[in-house]
Amino acid sequence: MSSVTSRPRKLYVKSYGCQMNVYDSQRMADVLAREGYVETSMPDDADVLVLNTCHIREKAAEKVYSELGRLRVLKQAAALEGRSLTVAVAGCVAQAEGEEIIRRAPVVDLVVGPQNYHRLPDLVARAARDGRVVDTEFPAEDKFDHLAAPSAAVTRSRGVTAFVTVQEGCDKFCTFCVVPYTRGAEFSRPVAKIVAEVERLADAGVREIRLIGQNVNAWHGEGPDGRAWTLAQLLYRLAAVPGVARLRYTTSHPRDMDEALIAAHGELPALMPQLHLPVQSGSDRVLAAMNRKHDRAEFLAVVARLRAARPDIAMSSDFIVGFPGETEQEFRDTLALVDEVGFASAYSFKYSSRPGTPAADSENQVSEAEKTERLARLQARIDFHAAAFNAATVGRTTEVLFESTGRHDGQMTGRSPWMQSVQVMAPASVKGEVLTVRITGTGTNSLYGALLAPARHDGAAPNDTASRNEALRPHEAARAASGGL
Ligand code: SAH
Ligand code: SF4
Ligand code: F3S
Repeated sequence: MSSVTSRPRKLYVKSYGCQMNVYDSQRMADVLAREGYVETSMPDDADVLVLNTCHIREKAAEKVYSELGRLRVLKQAAALEGRSLTVAVAGCVAQAEGEEIIRRAPVVDLVVGPQNYHRLPDLVARAARDGRVVDTEFPAEDKFDHLAAPSAAVTRSRGVTAFVTVQEGCDKFCTFCVVPYTRGAEFSRPVAKIVAEVERLADAGVREIRLIGQNVNAWHGEGPDGRAWTLAQLLYRLAAVPGVARLRYTTSHPRDMDEALIAAHGELPALMPQLHLPVQSGSDRVLAAMNRKHDRAEFLAVVARLRAARPDIAMSSDFIVGFPGETEQEFRDTLALVDEVGFASAYSFKYSSRPGTPAADSENQVSEAEKTERLARLQARIDFHAAAFNAATVGRTTEVLFESTGRHDGQMTGRSPWMQSVQVMAPASVKGEVLTVRITGTGTNSLYGALLAPARHDGAAPNDTASRNEALRPHEAARAASGGL
């Protein structure tokens, strides 16, 4: 793979699905950069084109096949120009469907599962030569040991926030979900490797680290003392890395919110007051049928403990409507839970039957029309609370980490501690800074704010004691606004 060509070979990667796919796409680009591949944003310019796919719902998986249909034309066009285009399918559809993908879409040269990205240089070379390469094994070696790190320049070009996978896979087996099959058993990366990756990112100017995992709070990686650490211990260690101003982690399971982690939300300034904690349903019968391993009361108790530790914490969640057998009353239990918690934001989905999962075989499927109707009602409640949460921040003073240029000239976009996007008139030089901003209004998808203090260069954690003491309690405002439903 080291032959000299007249133009650098180009790589185009398209990510679907969750944040781990975004992270994995970067790792794929990094490992192929070592072989001389340069990333392009134009698919018709590519020599290797990777679709990093998602299998979570039927729609997500089907999207891949319509995209592959379009790629047939692209491949023919490249051939007419005397170039060859290697098409690879990676991610969770690759893992779930393997060879079947090539049978259904012969345009595909390579199918590679998430555990084999470190083998990409070899796989791509073989696929370019022979076509029809499939690698969906769960290998014995740790792929993270063989994946390449990007240069500081590439890291800088990716922005001031970065994902770091610390945990992968899932042992929970919710009855609707494909993840335990596509990502395999739970695996935790050791502390030393995570710290090294975070130090490298921080050295290149990254200010916010978002730890990711399918069940990130089940992380229990080996510490330098040879013992398994908790996620709380890891967060404290990472907060000590010079340059790291903010930490977040996602996605968590309610069962794995231990006391130390909850306490860290009250005690660790770099840990942002925001948590995505999927609940899926507000009905105990549905939660049991989903094999969620927690009931409604246990979820509410976790939220109450988090709010006791950190009163202003912004809660977000995931919901599924129309799980097999869900009755109108059970759905109303979900609506009531949304009102009870007052989520700052949430994602909601119609139940999608996934082959190979236990719930797919249930006979009492909810009709599509009913799912559509329930989804609209749920989203209206979620939007109501999100708007109330955002409105409650107007007039407040808070810290914003500036990430990129804004929508209009002279504007910069940043994020509040609660993960809201904030548009502020500010010079481009504020990128990477955590600055004090007064929130002046709300827009459709973001807040507006005005800079209060000049740029700080001390790298201090954003939510110091002073700002913590005037902690807002947007969820209470949201609850009040909802009339205490
Ligand atoms: N690991 C996380 C989320 C995994 S998938 C967790 O434990 O919750 C992200 C979200 O997709 C889930 O929270 C769920 O709301 C949704 N989802 C998963 N499988 C689904 C299915 N078969 N149909 C509809 N939504 C689904
Ligand atoms: Fe899927 Fe449940 Fe595992 Fe989340 S905890 S990844 S929803 S099986
Ligand atoms: Fe999708 Fe796989 Fe992520 S199924 S949500 S890409 S873990």
